Amino acid sequence: EKVTAIILAAGQGKRMKSNIQKQYISLGNKPIIVYALSTFSKCKEIDEIVVVVSPGDINYFKKEIIDKYNIEKVVTIVEGGKERYHSVYNALKYIDGNNNGYVLIHDGARPFVRKEEIKKCITSVKEYKACVLGVPSKDTIKKVEKEGFIEGTVDRKNLWLIQTPQGFSFELIKEAYVKFFEDSNTNITDDAMIVENYSDKKVKIVEGSYNNIKITTPEDLIFGEAILKHYI
Ligand code: CTP
Ligand code: MG
Repeated sequence: EKVTAIILAAGQGKRMKSNIQKQYISLGNKPIIVYALSTFSKCKEIDEIVVVVSPGDINYFKKEIIDKYNIEKVVTIVEGGKERYHSVYNALKYIDGNNNGYVLIHDGARPFVRKEEIKKCITSVKEYKACVLGVPSKDTIKKVEKEGFIEGTVDRKNLWLIQTPQGFSFELIKEAYVKFFEDSNTNITDDAMIVENYSDKKVKIVEGSYNNIKITTPEDLIFGEAILKHYI
């Protein structure tokens, strides 16, 4: 069965407050997006890659990223939408009909995912049909009510910080997405939530690495440089 990676690079990066989209910012002399793309492309268990970029960016992406950095296995570049889930759905629509296998959905803003983690996800998705990479929370997390008072504490041993890739059988994620779009509830922040809310499948956690950070705010560029220097 085919394994397709969907790499998301259609966000605006508002929290980064930079004049260029954060996926194109340079980290250690390469644009951030190049890291995840190369890792997926070099992972032999990945058969093909679908990249999602902002409307109007397809030619730029092809020339300045795919060709320039010799990224293999990219079968298409599709345009993204307003929210992350629109971007994912556009990629799923492209894959439709030519995939009865699995998809791994990955944030292009997570440059440090390693081949071993991708492989662990593939093994897990083949067994459980739905899985996400995550790490145990190192912090105590509290629920705070509107007025700024603590409402309660969730037992830390049950709390995991969720990353990507998130892996699904294609059929399962496509059906869950179709149901999600039929519904009016749009308050979702990852793909697993769509499977949790719009299917009966339980999503399995795959333990990942604390290095697999998402570059979100300006200080993450500093953490990113440190991770590059010490671990990559
Ligand atoms: N993404 C996307 N399409 C969108 C929104 C996000 O493809 N409409 C992608 C981003 O490019 C990123 C990943 O989803 O790789 C995770 O999203 P996030 O970190 O929130 O990135 P942005 O949405 O770009 O940043 P912000 O929320 O700060 O604007
Ligand atoms: Mg966002």
